[in-house]
Amino acid sequence: MQKKITAFLFLLLILAACKPAQKNTAAPAINAYNYSGVKKVVAENGAVVSAHPLASKVGVEILKMGGNAVDAAIATQLALAVVYPNAGNLGGGGFMVARLSNGETVALDYREKAPGQAHRDMYVETDGKANTDKSQLGHLSSGVPGTVSGLFASHKYGKLAFEKLIQPAIELAEKGFTISASEARSLNYLQNDLKKYNTVTPVFVKNTPWKQGDTLLQTDLANTLKRMQQKGAAGFYEGETARLIVEEMKRGNGIISLEDLKNYQAKFRTPHSFLYKGYKIVSMPMPSSGGVLIHQMMKMIEERNIAAMGFHSLQAVQLMTEVERRAFADRGEYMGDADHYKVPVDMLTNEVYLQERMKNYDPAKATPSVMVQPGTVLRTESEETTHLSVIDKEGNAVAVTTTLNNSYGSRTVVGGAGFFMNDEMDDFSIKPGVPNMYGAIGGEANAIKPGKRMLSSMTPTLVLKDDKPYIVVGTPGGTTIPTQIFQTLVNILEFNMSAEEAVYKPKFHHQWLPDEIMIEKGFPLAVKEALQKMGYSFSKERSGIGRTEIIMVLPNGKFEAVADNRGDDAAEGW
Ligand code: GLY
Repeated sequence: MQKKITAFLFLLLILAACKPAQKNTAAPAINAYNYSGVKKVVAENGAVVSAHPLASKVGVEILKMGGNAVDAAIATQLALAVVYPNAGNLGGGGFMVARLSNGETVALDYREKAPGQAHRDMYVETDGKANTDKSQLGHLSSGVPGTVSGLFASHKYGKLAFEKLIQPAIELAEKGFTISASEARSLNYLQNDLKKYNTVTPVFVKNTPWKQGDTLLQTDLANTLKRMQQKGAAGFYEGETARLIVEEMKRGNGIISLEDLKNYQAKFRTPHSFLYKGYKIVSMPMPSSGGVLIHQMMKMIEERNIAAMGFHSLQAVQLMTEVERRAFADRGEYMGDADHYKVPVDMLTNEVYLQERMKNYDPAKATPSVMVQPGTVLRTESEETTHLSVIDKEGNAVAVTTTLNNSYGSRTVVGGAGFFMNDEMDDFSIKPGVPNMYGAIGGEANAIKPGKRMLSSMTPTLVLKDDKPYIVVGTPGGTTIPTQIFQTLVNILEFNMSAEEAVYKPKFHHQWLPDEIMIEKGFPLAVKEALQKMGYSFSKERSGIGRTEIIMVLPNGKFEAVADNRGDDAAEGW
């Protein structure tokens, strides 16, 4: 009998061993119908800060499950693709800058690419005029999406199975979540465009106005995410999802093909790094202008004792404006996808060159920008990109900025697949000298070419102190991104501000063309008037510039995560 029982138990053990391992994909418990977010946390083990409370909560739950900051960044991005359709995305692109626990720094480029059938003058009409409607709205405005390739490429640094990282997003899409007042407002604002630029009515269209507390269910999107869960990147770039994208393109005269999708590859690049007064600043290289621009701006102020001038003093604002102007003049001329155009990065960041650039700087008056083409009025509802910052106790720090370009991208949702496509083609120079939606101009360096990535301003950035993570930062905001990061860093490194102050204080922006300073509500009126007397022009005041998400490592080693107060953004930690 004893022998029989032993044999039976042994058999059970063998059967258990032979049973295929069940994938435990249970999502962490988050109440998506009743939630709130906080703007600041101080945490010991890890922190996530993003544009949406639910996405930040997902990220921290992943950290609690034993994931590292890269895992949390992946899960947070996937959650944002569901709960923050303005900019969180599957149909767009982005950049990740990370410092890993082994000290390595990495930059991952998953920027969209021009489709194979794209060509330099595709938005130039027969009368020679550039058609920005076509580059900014609808099917033809979309580049080949890179986000999904980026998520899977970054996962090589993660610890948890991808199936687990995507499960919270699937559940948020399938079971729904309640929307905030600002989400309701932006969906209502979108209704006409949704009807105009879609061939299949998307779930975002509603006959009565959206209101705070409504539940948004996204079944098609849940199915797309499930295909990614089952098949990896091929669940997006091949098979059913790819077929749905290409059919959508064909119905709306878009040009993205099955081949474009299958060939898309995210690329690891060497981060753009430089030293500023002993800190190592690690940011994104081309095809983002962000890293080079903050390098140029920081170096142009480094020797000028800006700390003594004081925050928002006339002298400091005027100096920073002139520095921003000079950096952006170089952006238009020299910057683009370095895989397709030789960008003179070394020359642009050479200290002698930068001193030379400041030779005609006059602290007493404005230096007028050399006009190439008149600037256009900026579209204030645009600039919808999103940033998330993550840190863990192992020493991994991750800054990710992703985008659809405009708010809700092209406004086209892929029929049957449930996600918005980007309108990133407008970030190319669609015709030399013609401003894009941010008023930025460009030329040959950023001309459209099949397979080329459009120039970006996204600036996910890390600051290392003694080679350890000190600041993790980034923001949306189109061309205002590099100037916001510049100002946030100067606020902390020169004006000794806390993370909270550095983010919340009103910002300003100059981008060479149009030759005017954009200021945010709350910017000191006396400084504005003094600058006007010195010859500066101002554009209409903005209610908000950027939505900066920052994590700082405090002297006691704890993480202070601060979410911008300009939106629903939320910080979480544990
Ligand atoms: N689409 C905004 C940027 O990449 O800069």
